[in-house]
Amino acid sequence: MKKHAITLTVNGEERDLIVSSNRTLLDALRDDLGFTDTKYGCGTGECGACTVLVDGTTSINGCLTLAATMDGRSITTAAGLAHDGALHPVQQAFIDNDAIQCGFCIPGMVLKTISILADNPRPTEDEIRHGLEGSICRCTGYAKIVEAVQDASHRMAGVGE
Ligand code: FES
Ligand code: FES
Repeated sequence: MKKHAITLTVNGEERDLIVSSNRTLLDALRDDLGFTDTKYGCGTGECGACTVLVDGTTSINGCLTLAATMDGRSITTAAGLAHDGALHPVQQAFIDNDAIQCGFCIPGMVLKTISILADNPRPTEDEIRHGLEGSICRCTGYAKIVEAVQDASHRMAGVGE
């Protein structure tokens, strides 16, 4: 299998690694670089647990993305969202709205939410549910998750502050 020397900027830090042509971004993040906050759920693009952000706010499934194709790109995982000891507003909204049960889906949900709100800062409930299609919560906490996304949109827009 051909090997590729690539550089990923993960959560603001440049990381060099050698990957096989068939190495997924998810496996590279988790197993080569230790970003186990990015979860393996299905491995087939069905669950969204492996969601990461590319170059800011574009969400992708790490299990469907070959690591070699991400050479030179910037990747954000949930572990890279907090700054100066403060959680990202989306993370805080998920906590404050009790949207977290087992937590397995939550890193992907939070990152997907950031992507949704970047495209549409004030989504309707239908738009939120549509945007979160492809992210599965096995604890079926969708009502709370939708409320958390609505709350996050208000916080990020400065409503009520
Ligand atoms: S692990 Fe990637 S979509 Fe399920
Ligand atoms: S909180 Fe358990 S899978 Fe979503």
